[in-house]
Amino acid sequence: MITGVIGSGAMGAGIAQVLATAGHTVFLLDRSTEALAKAETNIQIILDKLIAKGILTSEKGSHIFSEIHFTSAVADFINCELVIEAIVEDLLVKQELFKELENIVTDTCVLASNTSSLSVTSIAAACRRPERCIGIHFFNPAPVMQLVEIIPAVQTRQGLTEEIKIVVQGLGKLPVIAKDTPGFIVNRVARPFYGEAIRIMEEGIADCATIDWAMTTLGGFKMGPFSLMDFIGHDVNYRVTESVFASFFYDPRYKPSLSQKRLFEAHYNGKKSGRGFYNYTEPIPEPTRDESLGKSIVERIVAMLINEAADVVALKVASAQDLEIAMKKGVNYPKGLLEWANEWGIEKVIDILDSLYNEYHDDRYRVSSLLRKMKRETKQFNIM
Ligand code: NAI
Repeated sequence: MITGVIGSGAMGAGIAQVLATAGHTVFLLDRSTEALAKAETNIQIILDKLIAKGILTSEKGSHIFSEIHFTSAVADFINCELVIEAIVEDLLVKQELFKELENIVTDTCVLASNTSSLSVTSIAAACRRPERCIGIHFFNPAPVMQLVEIIPAVQTRQGLTEEIKIVVQGLGKLPVIAKDTPGFIVNRVARPFYGEAIRIMEEGIADCATIDWAMTTLGGFKMGPFSLMDFIGHDVNYRVTESVFASFFYDPRYKPSLSQKRLFEAHYNGKKSGRGFYNYTEPIPEPTRDESLGKSIVERIVAMLINEAADVVALKVASAQDLEIAMKKGVNYPKGLLEWANEWGIEKVIDILDSLYNEYHDDRYRVSSLLRKMKRETKQFNIM
């Protein structure tokens, strides 16, 4: 297939590599010649490393590289059957790009966006043929992460989602389908992992190191919430939280925290800035290894995650099966959240959330109607 990728930054360069590795011809465009040159060098370095490790033969490596055409001319996209944009996260800029593209590509060319937070429907709305638009959301780094969320816009023509699913499977990826709603699956369901952890810290129940210890050692997560937020960067993580909150019409479930906002304002953006929730110029503080406190922290955060997951299923944002894949493959959760709910029992999840609601009277702790229905019907999630 002849494909195009626009934006040769972290995501675009990775997506181009994935497409070329799967045998597609790729035109990779960036408006910045420096960014394009950097992508060219980086892709070459990555391919050389894969050859050195014996993952690719040198013939295959050279072939992949020769199938990526680095360009600054949109006219090169004339024969593309699929174009994926991975440019700056700005609705107007993305809309202008799609309008410009429609003057070049054929009427059947699919226009996809890798947006992580914008409405795909609103990007499609700028197009003459919005029915050809769809979201194809890769995770970072695209060559490594298996998960891809496919997001049909309201206008997307029938059948396109299934066609793109086959293309994505052909890339060796695991596609899941998400309704065009804020944060899609992963960036929505993961919000309480950060938000609830910050609340626990703000209330003085435990410090960052103890919460991180509880979530990794007792919860089985690869990284604790504070280490992870510091790793992602507060410029990115805070902005996603703020955008999801606003996009959900300010539902208290997604309320950002002032502690994180202040870090962002101070440019204490995390590990890359030397300072975030932790100060990386000093040793990381020791946690309080209190099993009972740790267990209550894990229960509170995981119950909030399960509640969000249940709502995603209840509101048909994703199927139960896709949701489980998404959280395990997109953010490496130790197990699916619905599987977790089944293990704990729905009643226990509801009890944790209800006791939080009774304590705080905050709508953020309202229980998903699906959980209550399942308890009434003594059902478990069907995740097979
Ligand atoms: P980036 O800043 O690394 O790269 C963006 C590139 O697009 C830059 O090289 C820039 O020169 C180019 N660009 C900007 N406007 C352009 C235009 N009008 N025409 C041509 N090129 C243009 O950004 P990154 O991180 O690669 O993100 C790109 C997109 O992918 C965004 O929509 C982002 O939300 C999404 N995304 C990012 C993830 C991440 O972890 N970085 C994960 C998943 C999605």
